[in-house]
Amino acid sequence: MRIEIYLDQDDTPFQTLVPPETFRLDTELLSDGPHQLRFRAIDEGKGISERRMSFNVQNGPAIAVHGIVDGDTLHGQVGILANAYGARAGDEFEPRRMETPVPVPTWAWVLFLTVLAWGAGYLSFEFSNHIDSVMPPGASIERAATPQASGEPSAGGNGTAEAWVALGEQVYGVNCASCHQASGMGLPSVFPPLVNNAVVVDADPAQHIGAVLHGLSGKVIDGVAYVAPMPPFGGILSDAEIAAVVNHERTQWGNNAPIITADDVAEHR
Ligand code: HEC
Repeated sequence: MRIEIYLDQDDTPFQTLVPPETFRLDTELLSDGPHQLRFRAIDEGKGISERRMSFNVQNGPAIAVHGIVDGDTLHGQVGILANAYGARAGDEFEPRRMETPVPVPTWAWVLFLTVLAWGAGYLSFEFSNHIDSVMPPGASIERAATPQASGEPSAGGNGTAEAWVALGEQVYGVNCASCHQASGMGLPSVFPPLVNNAVVVDADPAQHIGAVLHGLSGKVIDGVAYVAPMPPFGGILSDAEIAAVVNHERTQWGNNAPIITADDVAEHR
């Protein structure tokens, strides 16, 4: 396979390449104006294909015009800015010659003002939130820390759901981790693991809630009999706290079971 490259109407290729390969085209050797490159790919015994690419050469100064576009309709007096700058290869970069002063376009102003307005709005919103949380001492903090006042644990991705997650973590750490461990792995033959425990990952939460409310003893779990009983927490924890800790176990350590609400716990009391 080879590629022959022809310039304009030439019959002899000025380059022959084995693909893929890059080559250099020196436009300084060409006259300004339209030109064409013709690529002929020759696959011995399989045929020939051809492709043409047109291009324009302009090695003289580039021209910039502002105030008029091609095909414009004009009336009255029109201010037009004309600029030209050299584009010859080997020229040193000289910003002053490159610069063509153009007024800031309207869309840039609109964008700037929109961002400014959004920023001001955001600041005042944040500030009023801040005032809220500082002025009535404890009022809004209380609200965040006791999610049982606000119902569903899955109530969207807002602070309420976060409070539920935090509460579940806290209740678990204080009441359950001593036996079942923070990792949920328990202690072999002494306290059962909750990771992938059949009751914990059961879509029906009845047994899960029941075990936490009323405790459990003598149950063989996954072939293991546990001597120690699981203490009841019905008298110690509120419905919301039990819902939060049950949800914690249902969603931690790779567990992925449907979560419950405080009302579900109340039903099983
Ligand atoms: C004093 C240690 C201890 C504490 C504290 C403890 N558990 Fe347990 N838990 C156990 C034991 C032991 C079992 C197994 C009981 C059995 O097999 O009869 C168990 C079993 C369980 C089970 C599995 C039930 C089943 O049927 O497979 C769940 C769920 C559970 N505990 C949740 C909790 C939660 C939630 C807490 C904290 C609120 C907690 N445990 C605190 C010792 C404990």
